Amino acid sequence: RIVPVILCGGSGTRLWPRSRKDRPKPFLPLLGERTLFQQSLDRVANRDIFAPAVIVAGAAHAALIEEQAADAEGMRLVIEPAAKNTAPAIALAAALLPRDAIMLVCPSDHHIGDPDAFVTGAEAAASLAQKGDMVAFGIEPTTPETGYGYIRKGAPLEGGNRVAKFVEKPDRATAEGFLATGDFVWNGGIFAFQAGAFLNELAKHRPEIAMKVEAAIEGATGDKRKIMPAAAPFEEIIGESVDYAVMENTDRASVVSADMQWSDIGNWDALMNARHGDADGNRSSGRVDLAECRNVMVESDGPRVSVAGLEDVIVVVNGDEVLVTTRAAAQLVGKFPGAQGL
Ligand code: GDD
Ligand code: MG
Repeated sequence: RIVPVILCGGSGTRLWPRSRKDRPKPFLPLLGERTLFQQSLDRVANRDIFAPAVIVAGAAHAALIEEQAADAEGMRLVIEPAAKNTAPAIALAAALLPRDAIMLVCPSDHHIGDPDAFVTGAEAAASLAQKGDMVAFGIEPTTPETGYGYIRKGAPLEGGNRVAKFVEKPDRATAEGFLATGDFVWNGGIFAFQAGAFLNELAKHRPEIAMKVEAAIEGATGDKRKIMPAAAPFEEIIGESVDYAVMENTDRASVVSADMQWSDIGNWDALMNARHGDADGNRSSGRVDLAECRNVMVESDGPRVSVAGLEDVIVVVNGDEVLVTTRAAAQLVGKFPGAQGL
């Protein structure tokens, strides 16, 4: 069975003021009743295909995870001694698992509209990973986003393609050039690796990280359900994402294309796109009254909010914080002092 490894790290500053320090993005019910983290668990709930998940997170979020994953039997929680980005986080899980385990690394803060397509992709990715490949999920790009990794597809393989080139977070002009060629896809941030193969690649390209992670796991305390890697070696690691540390450098990468209505809900506009609107394109929740509005999203967790005559605007009220933005400017939200405190 495939072992899901769920990463709970980032804070989601661009979804402020819903996303707060004590309850960051993965732990909010942004689409439906279940939180994004719970939906990540739901996607890998089929026990014929997936083993119970390994969750990698910081101590600050352990209580939220235990609360929200109360029903996830067999789940294991790995507590990171420090936040060192995704390469060390994934390596902790890899070092814990048998070397021949196939791991499916999943972010905890994405939305996938078609979970069946995700499972089909996961199975294709797992069989490539079985051969020792570092497998990424490719998403058909729509805009020259600079916050994503870009993958140039190479020779076709059974169930996917070889990665001809992996470029993490290119600048705008480069991203535009990639889109124009038509043979780049976005990296969806979901990966399949064989645990031992991943550690070998990491040791080849980032020996420091690999060594310190192995030491942290050797010195781990805790029990079967909650693993606490040793702090001293882990804290010395210079943090780096798996994209820069491994995916850009390895010559064993392949990519599986998955048409699964993926969104990383990077800002309020993306969240609005993932929600269904009424006949006028409006999405509102809480005590909200609208008059002659089109394509607005208004949500309030308390105060009554009344909005008239606006178009393409987002209003969010959370406790004592209020955000008003046009859809087009939604990516600026992370720059506000309120969001910076996250
Ligand atoms: N446990 C743990 N510890 N998780 C972490 C850490 C960490 O130190 N840092 C990040 N994460 C988690 C985040 O919560 C998120 O779920 C996932 O790992 C990816 O991290 P991001 O910080 O959101 O990465 P990104 O958005 O900049 O870029 C990645 O995702 C893009 C798609 O959304 C890259 O893989 C890009 O190539 C990709 O296009
Ligand atoms: Mg992200």
